[in-house]
Amino acid sequence: MRQARCFHAFVLFFFIFWVALTHLGFLKLDEFPSFKELPATFTIDALNGFVWQEENNGTGAKRLTCPKGPTVTVEDGLTGLGNQIWEYAQAWAAAKILDRPGFVSESLARKLKVYFPNIEMPTIEEISHCNVTKNATYMKMHVDVKTLKESYKGVHVRIPQYDMLPELILPYRDKLRDEIFKFHDEILERVQKTIHSFDAENLTKVVLHVRRSDYIGLIAILYKLSPAHSSFYLDAMDWFRKNIGGQLIFMIVTDDIGWCEKNLLIEKDVVIASDDTGHDLALLSIADHNIIDYGSFGMWAGVMSKGHTIALIDIDFNGIMTKFKNWHVFDESKYTSKLEFEP
Ligand SMILES: *[C@@H]1O[C@H](CO)[C@@H](O)[C@H](O)[C@H]1NC(C)=O
Ligand SMILES: *[C@@H]1O[C@H](CO)[C@@H](O)[C@H](O)[C@H]1NC(C)=O
Ligand SMILES: *[C@@H]1O[C@H](CO)[C@@H](O)[C@H](O)[C@H]1NC(C)=O
Ligand SMILES: *[C@@H]1O[C@H](CO)[C@@H](O)[C@H](O)[C@H]1NC(C)=O
Repeated sequence: MRQARCFHAFVLFFFIFWVALTHLGFLKLDEFPSFKELPATFTIDALNGFVWQEENNGTGAKRLTCPKGPTVTVEDGLTGLGNQIWEYAQAWAAAKILDRPGFVSESLARKLKVYFPNIEMPTIEEISHCNVTKNATYMKMHVDVKTLKESYKGVHVRIPQYDMLPELILPYRDKLRDEIFKFHDEILERVQKTIHSFDAENLTKVVLHVRRSDYIGLIAILYKLSPAHSSFYLDAMDWFRKNIGGQLIFMIVTDDIGWCEKNLLIEKDVVIASDDTGHDLALLSIADHNIIDYGSFGMWAGVMSKGHTIALIDIDFNGIMTKFKNWHVFDESKYTSKLEFEP
């Protein structure tokens, strides 16, 4: 089974992408105050240093009493909402399992509060005067929750950006979904409106996440695969029609509505239900079942939803999830094409 490999290529890709974006001025620098403080030449480590804001007093944050024992912290990369949720959730869960304080960056907390009012972990900025994060050990990709305390006894733990460690969060799935990552009422109300607009209140809702745009390049780099063919989504819908009783509705959320309209709106029970990011993630998370292709956004929703999830790529994450819930991995060799190139 494939690890989330090419991790370094991935980081480098993002790094180049980020430089291009900032230098071309597409990103609003105000959203990332410390960008302005970057030296002219810097390394990936310096980038982390910047993200961590270890060297300054933070953004006017209040100062907390320095933690006496070891801590958990998490990298906040320049990731999308899906990764940000994973970063926060894992820091929260690791702190809980290890029974020690956990800290996230102020920017991560701020970005998540846009969607989730209950985000309240203290920030790294608030302990930036304590030097605690300078000597942290990265948490490994495969964690055994049972031996976690032993493995990281006495050391500061850092959760790497992009990682998704389902073992960490699965013990707290209900609390994470129902309390910590409970959406703002305004978002949930819009989701109910969407459901109502399709008269879907009493139907069994299967929500599909069809991720294309930016991820077409990413899956080429990460897995040397083409994006999923439309047959993946169509066969996955058929799986539900055959295996799940009751009246079904398939609701698509996507970043490529045109492609979905052209390729997936074949049966009458399929609709496109996309709105904005918060709405789409909330709809995915409250679905009865999901069909997801790739990416941290769909994977989070799949982990959170209570029913069946159909996933695609043969990665460790999917292998782990099949042990914990009704998680079905369709054969990627049937639904994607191998790309012949050296990224
Ligand atoms: C942090 O802020 C305090 C008070 O505002 C100031 O005295 C101190 O020099 C600052 N330290 C650094 C490293 O910027
Ligand atoms: C943090 O490190 C700086 C120098 O690296 C040192 O001057 C300062 O006293 C340290 N603070 C604590 C709380 O250990
Ligand atoms: C950093 O961590 C190592 C190993 O965990 C430990 O031996 C060392 O004392 C730590 N250094 C500081 C400054 O905390
Ligand atoms: C859903 O079921 C409830 C209770 O059976 C009923 O009152 C309501 O009208 C139904 N809604 C729709 C859209 O069919």
